[in-house]
Amino acid sequence: MRKKVSIVGAGNVGATAAHWIASKELADVVLIDVVEGVPQGKALDLAEAMPIEKRDVHVTGANDYAATANSDIVVITAGIPRKPGMSRDDLLNTNFKIMSDVVQKVVAQSPESILIIVSNPLDAMAQAAFRQAGFNRERVIGMAGVLDSARFRTFIAEELSVSVENVTAFVLGGHGDTMVPLPRYSTVAGIPITELIAPERLEQLVQRTRDGGAEIVKHLKTGSAYYAPSAATVEMVEAILKDKKKILPCAAYLEGEYGINGYYIGVPCKLGAAGIEQIVEIKLTAEEDAALKKSAESVKELCAVIGV
Ligand code: LAC
Repeated sequence: MRKKVSIVGAGNVGATAAHWIASKELADVVLIDVVEGVPQGKALDLAEAMPIEKRDVHVTGANDYAATANSDIVVITAGIPRKPGMSRDDLLNTNFKIMSDVVQKVVAQSPESILIIVSNPLDAMAQAAFRQAGFNRERVIGMAGVLDSARFRTFIAEELSVSVENVTAFVLGGHGDTMVPLPRYSTVAGIPITELIAPERLEQLVQRTRDGGAEIVKHLKTGSAYYAPSAATVEMVEAILKDKKKILPCAAYLEGEYGINGYYIGVPCKLGAAGIEQIVEIKLTAEEDAALKKSAESVKELCAVIGV
């Protein structure tokens, strides 16, 4: 039997995630949205592309969560996106209400599923979903690090004029202004980028990575990024469905790892069939550690506002 992935929110991120999943033939997809007709229309349109793409997956859309029953993975993208000038944190209260409602409905239909949270502000929304779902921490994962790392990789590849495939990068911390790109753990064909790019220039690339989401919002004016966010989400979906044991930076609920207790924050995680199968603790310098702790503090502040 094919795997089943439901995606809550048929906006740009949700619909594009459905597109990547279908085009990789990973699973049947159910798109869910409160707006009548939109998930149905987008799903049917995507389903009709399958004969051309030669992919045998079912793509359906619905407003009722009954359609999501027994999903293996549920991706939650529901919520409002940023407008120019807004920070991810400005979305907090509105998206918290939406998240609480969505998670309750999702869990009722798919009590064994793994949740991937994509809504912003990411780390606080992952925490809200975790509390509401009552799942163990292995099964509630936030998407952000893969996206932030992909942005960093894009800028490094461009800078050095090398294949994006040659570039690996790690960005930890919260998905916000305090995110922590780690140049020391970022390499080009195994060579640390600190040996290839001068410190001042590297700092500029790091800053562009931190501002990566805002840079897109500024261009689009009416919303935020969706191609890279959805591709990042689907890399996580694929790692879980195929039990790949792939190490990716994800937002995870920490219980003492990295000296942080009781909060979601981006760290390297091994993703497999069980969800987060291991939180990988890498050695940080005092400076990196301080940056991660600072990032955790800002997540903590947001969580306090919504009481999760
Ligand atoms: C971004 C938004 C989606 O980083 O958080 O583009």
